[in-house]
Amino acid sequence: MHCTRKITDDIHYVGGSDRRLERFENLFPIERGVSYNSYLILDEKTCLLDTVDSSITRLYLENVKHVLGNRKLDYLVVHHMEPDHCANIEEILIRHPETTVVGNDKTFAFIRQFYPDLDLEGRTLAVKEGDVLKLGKHELHFFMAPMVHWPEVMVSYDPCDKVLFSADAFGSFGALNGNLFADEVDFDRDWLDDARRYYTNIVGKYGAQVQMALKKLTGVDIRLICSLHGPVWRKDIDYLMDKYQHWSTYEPETKGVMIVYGSMYGDNQNAAECLASYLSQEGIRDIRVYDASKTTPSFLVSEAFRLSNIVLVTPTYNMTVYPAIEAFVDDFLRMGLKNRTLSLIENGSWAPAANRLLREKLKEPAFRFTPKDVTIRSNLDEAKLTELASLAKDIRESL
Ligand code: FEO
Repeated sequence: MHCTRKITDDIHYVGGSDRRLERFENLFPIERGVSYNSYLILDEKTCLLDTVDSSITRLYLENVKHVLGNRKLDYLVVHHMEPDHCANIEEILIRHPETTVVGNDKTFAFIRQFYPDLDLEGRTLAVKEGDVLKLGKHELHFFMAPMVHWPEVMVSYDPCDKVLFSADAFGSFGALNGNLFADEVDFDRDWLDDARRYYTNIVGKYGAQVQMALKKLTGVDIRLICSLHGPVWRKDIDYLMDKYQHWSTYEPETKGVMIVYGSMYGDNQNAAECLASYLSQEGIRDIRVYDASKTTPSFLVSEAFRLSNIVLVTPTYNMTVYPAIEAFVDDFLRMGLKNRTLSLIENGSWAPAANRLLREKLKEPAFRFTPKDVTIRSNLDEAKLTELASLAKDIRESL
């Protein structure tokens, strides 16, 4: 049975949520599920904006049918060709032989790659930067947004309702719980962590491209943001833009410290806990301690984007960095993180090498370091506790 909702008088939400999927892109845990958003504009012309993942095909087709009623579907706009949004193009076109597919040249190249048997002869309309699709009182103005998150991505703006259809941008992990609009809940409480984790995991690498897209939209009067995932924004747009400004320029949101440790027998965990206590005694309030063997890089990377300081506590393991710590470091490097202050604590019972290896990998000026690395030999002693207390002071001074 259909489940739709009006966003404005003429724009309808026809997407849905998946709570079964374990991992987004078969990689990132999504305990709260994910929504696949699609929108249908009813004007002199009708226009469907993207489709949805194959997991919710049935609901989606019922939603489109319900909102469309007896009308024909004039256009299907494809902002993004990743299969979580394009999986139902063929289903829509089979049901609506009258529909013209709107995309850019790369969109159609990807459609041919993903769906080699799909015949779009005479059913396409290619758009480029600045083109306008007139639907009646609504118009879609197209802006290319390459690599936010794939090369064919474009966004569109409807001046009538001042809506930005933003593709993956401004999206979030998390199924919708009836509350379609971000302002219907406490966003910081209910969505911010998933929105940050979605951005940093999925789009984080492409900060420069996000910046280019944001610059293109400077001066555009945006009152609504309709992303392909997560809630719709109709209030506090500046708040969301500010988050994207921080994330896409790799500037921390807040001054605080994450301590990420690898610990086989508890000694490094102990060092991490002691440092956290010293940091607290230095007056630092935003302190998070994570076991890299337990918390997946998906969450750790998101925290690394949020906070100003990262402390890595690692054994030397087979003459390298402990694999769980290395996985975290490789992940945040892969996502382009920079502008963080790092502190290093290694443990080596006979040949400590991890701090040197991490310093070779994490270079200035992308990363700053507190002055003195710490080397533990097997376990803490009074002298090492003094070094940790001193490190806590150095971290406080770096904030
Ligand atoms: Fe939600 Fe890049 O697809």
